[in-house]
Amino acid sequence: QILILDFGSQFTQLIARRVRELNIYCEIHPFNKIPEITPDIKGVILSGSPYSVRDEGSPRVDMSLFRGKVPLLGVCYGAQLLAHTLGGEVKASKHREYGRAMLTHHSHSALLDTVSPITQVWMSHGDTIVSVPESFKIIGETDSVKVAAFHIEGEQTYGIQFHPEVTHSVEGKNILKNFVVDICGCAQDWTAASFVESTIADLKARLGNDKVVMALSGGVDSTVAASLVHHAIGKNLYCIFVDNGLLRKDEYESVLHSYLDMGLNIKGVDAKAHFYGVLAGLTDPEAKRKAIGKAFIDIFDQEAHLIEDVKWLGQGTIYPDVIESVSVKGPSATIKSHHNVGGLPDYMKLKIVEPLNTLFKDEVRAVGRTLELPEAILKRHPFPGPGLAIRILGDITAEKVAILQDVDAIFINGLKTRGLYDQVWQAGAMLLPIQSVGVMGDERTYERVVALRAVTSVDGMTADWAHLPYDFLADVSNEIINRVKGVNRVVYDISSKPPATIEWE
Ligand code: XMP
Repeated sequence: QILILDFGSQFTQLIARRVRELNIYCEIHPFNKIPEITPDIKGVILSGSPYSVRDEGSPRVDMSLFRGKVPLLGVCYGAQLLAHTLGGEVKASKHREYGRAMLTHHSHSALLDTVSPITQVWMSHGDTIVSVPESFKIIGETDSVKVAAFHIEGEQTYGIQFHPEVTHSVEGKNILKNFVVDICGCAQDWTAASFVESTIADLKARLGNDKVVMALSGGVDSTVAASLVHHAIGKNLYCIFVDNGLLRKDEYESVLHSYLDMGLNIKGVDAKAHFYGVLAGLTDPEAKRKAIGKAFIDIFDQEAHLIEDVKWLGQGTIYPDVIESVSVKGPSATIKSHHNVGGLPDYMKLKIVEPLNTLFKDEVRAVGRTLELPEAILKRHPFPGPGLAIRILGDITAEKVAILQDVDAIFINGLKTRGLYDQVWQAGAMLLPIQSVGVMGDERTYERVVALRAVTSVDGMTADWAHLPYDFLADVSNEIINRVKGVNRVVYDISSKPPATIEWE
């Protein structure tokens, strides 16, 4: 595997993504928590950073831990750190360098040999390397950056000022491939199928005859995680699927059905009344979230106690959640903080098993395909844990949920029928706490307003509103107003995130 040391760059995860796309396993670790360099680590990549090596408190590492022992590639800050530490000089650039640049290279080097002589790369740096020690051979330059790529002679150490991990560096992936495959000698054999095989074997060994309990949500992560554990221990995996009364229309029944088809030992729990009860009269979004979280834990706890002698809690945690919780910048207050089960009562004292905690989302989908899980689950849009409660502004009632479910179903089915569902990252509808005047036939109406929201995004952290065709929006709007009693106006949300969020709460 490849070890990526993170100095806090926004692109570090992308380096990992590119390496994984080459079918090579890699892990990101913060620069200040370097794991032991075991023989299975075939190379180290130093990431970029928002810091300057010239700053007093900027991140440093003890290079002797790995330099000269395994091949080493410094990217941006990583390259500057190599130059700075080994006696070169790094200065503030006269002007900050962002964006496209043309890299030219002529001298022979394993890193760039298969790359076109002039190739577009992407720069993002405020510092630049102005001089390097004698052992550094400059292997690439751009118009404004003399030391754009270097090789330290006599060792397998390289540095590049540009970011090969972003797609604007046209041959970036090729450069990374040269490093991880040719220079580090990694075999490209890490695939979804090999992951499934080794993970099931590991789970078998780890769990033995122990019982595991898991809450499923109908989402990709929990479903794929459960399937892996199920392959390893069969009926000893006890799955619980709670109907909180805040799911999409008919979702509870259809998801439960898929789980039964998959052969899971699943128990559906109808807790609608309990959730509506604790939500009654609550209007503040945070209060609603807290009530839902607590209600979920109460129900789950009650159900888990019915299983005798359960030792483990299974969870669908994925790699970005893990990276975030140990990141250089510390856990950030982002979408992940309110994710999933979390905060189980102490006395349950269950050990945690998280079979997907090394995978990115699209890798989870690939694993799901290898396990032959239904496409309907693998391609499902993200759906928030608190469900429709954060799409109904104001207090929650069963009647409002029913209205929103009907609106949402028309929108989502419309997207699917028109082949638009897979083109947007997430879509849904919001029930607003206002009424507006309308006219139907000869009658004046005073009814509810719904907002449709569809976004494009990569990870939900930032998003743009989806530019859906006008005629599609017109059809959906018509159908909603004609078919859903109590709604007389439909609006489409054209805000991006930031400054807006995806959910209205
Ligand atoms: P916002 O509204 O913060 O949402 O832009 C970003 C993404 O996170 C989802 N979301 C949640 N997911 N539990 C979840 O599992 C939650 O409590 C939660 N709240 C928001 C939201 O649907 C969007 O995909």
